[in-house]
Amino acid sequence: MEWLGSLTWFTISFLLPLFLWSKLRNRSSKLGRPPGPPGWPVIGNILDLRSQPHRDFHRLQSKYGPLLWLKLGNLNALVIQSAAAAAELFKKHDLAFADRNPPYSMTACDYINGSLAQAPYNEYWRVLRRLSSSELMVQKRINSSVQLRQQCIDKMIHWIKEDASELVEIQLDKYLLIMSFNIVSNFMLTRDVIDFKSQMGNQFYEAMHHFMSWQGKPNLGDAFECMKWLDPQGIKAHTDRYLEQLLNLVSVFVKERIEEKNFPKGNDKRDFLDALLEYEGDGKGSIHKLSEKNINIIILEMFFGGTETTSNTTVWAMAELLRNPDSMTKLKAEIDGVVGPSRAVEEDDLNGLPYLQAVAKETMRLHPALPLLLPRKAREDTKFMGYNIPKDTMVIVNAWAIHRDPESWEDPFSFKPERFLNSNIDLKGQHYQLIPFGSGRRSCVGMLMGDKVVGLTLARLIQSFDWELPANVSPETLDMRDVAGVSLRLFTPLKAVPRERGA
Ligand code: HEM
Repeated sequence: MEWLGSLTWFTISFLLPLFLWSKLRNRSSKLGRPPGPPGWPVIGNILDLRSQPHRDFHRLQSKYGPLLWLKLGNLNALVIQSAAAAAELFKKHDLAFADRNPPYSMTACDYINGSLAQAPYNEYWRVLRRLSSSELMVQKRINSSVQLRQQCIDKMIHWIKEDASELVEIQLDKYLLIMSFNIVSNFMLTRDVIDFKSQMGNQFYEAMHHFMSWQGKPNLGDAFECMKWLDPQGIKAHTDRYLEQLLNLVSVFVKERIEEKNFPKGNDKRDFLDALLEYEGDGKGSIHKLSEKNINIIILEMFFGGTETTSNTTVWAMAELLRNPDSMTKLKAEIDGVVGPSRAVEEDDLNGLPYLQAVAKETMRLHPALPLLLPRKAREDTKFMGYNIPKDTMVIVNAWAIHRDPESWEDPFSFKPERFLNSNIDLKGQHYQLIPFGSGRRSCVGMLMGDKVVGLTLARLIQSFDWELPANVSPETLDMRDVAGVSLRLFTPLKAVPRERGA
């Protein structure tokens, strides 16, 4: 009878999963879902994903085409991987897919209920979006803070000059991250938040750094209901801890401002925090004022949204320029020709520097800061390109894959800023083959500012220094592998040797 036992084991361990697997596969096509790899019972397609989802989805594109259907534990996911499919989404289904799919860990400290980026498409989001658009998307408002941005970049150039006289090579991300922090903090709060000499600045930087690295990890709690409270990877617990620290630090600035407002000192420079504190509803909706707790969350969110994205994009641009010396030479020649050595590049110069703009676009094409944008969620059952997409499906736009699609781009894997020189493709989200800031209702609210900061910082770095790779690295051996955190960054931090120009 031993053979009977073996047969039973064979059935349980091999045939049963195969049977369930084929059932699941048939069910998916009967339900009218887009194509996708067959999933395993319970876990679905989780094993198809490794640590780099943007690359995993891209790999599956060659087999399944521009729309991909996946089951990730309990979650249905639709992945969009071509400019044509993205156009279909943003033009025809933007509203049906306008909710977000927030990670479970961000329920910590009630964050989601105060957030703009993770809010569902509701009245609260509309109020915040209108408010932040009028501060961040209006050219006049952005122009009024130009001096503050330029000062932050000046300080960074100064630090690099100081350090360059002592060190052979510097690690660029540290300087760029601190500068981006202070640009955002000056826009929000009219002050530098990070000064390495202050204890509070250090605490803020440390907590932010830890928070961001925990956010980069895929969480089992997002795929399985039962894992939420178990929190086996500790992601929720760590998010709780660092988010609480960060919110406490932000609350000090907010409280100070509330006190100042009660006892005005005649400082009439109005910033983003003032706009949040002064907000009053028009009486038609249910939101009349923003609570202090939510104001803390919104301020913190602007740091999340506007610091790593801009600093990492600039680091990627520098890495590409160091790897492509011809592009570096062209950019330097353009800046020297248009601005010259006697004064620093200013924001007003940016429009007259087309090669610089092309370098920034080409960098954002190859290394979009948020390769999957911020995932959305279907608000209702939707017919999308002939397929049935049920309510609550997570909708992911793989900008990283779209930016490498040979249907849209010639020689898509090469760094060629020249492709943008005689092209009308811009970054505003209307050319769906290039969407580093997203598109539609939920596109980046800091696009104008992010674009300016990347352009100006890059111009100043190139104008102020001649850059070289460290002695043991060549353009061919420079490590260009990426790693996804809150935003996409270089796996090996970029080190380079700055030599002050004209010194
Ligand atoms: C190079 C710089 C930046 C890049 C590449 C970038 C990219 C993005 C992307 C891809 C999204 C999601 C869009 C979508 O889902 O369609 C986004 C959303 C957002 N970004 Fe940015 N961003 C940058 C700078 C900034 C700055 C400077 C701020 C604010 C100070 C900011 C604040 C936000 C916010 C609040 C959202 C959520 C918008 C919403 O859901 O309504 N970003 N960003």
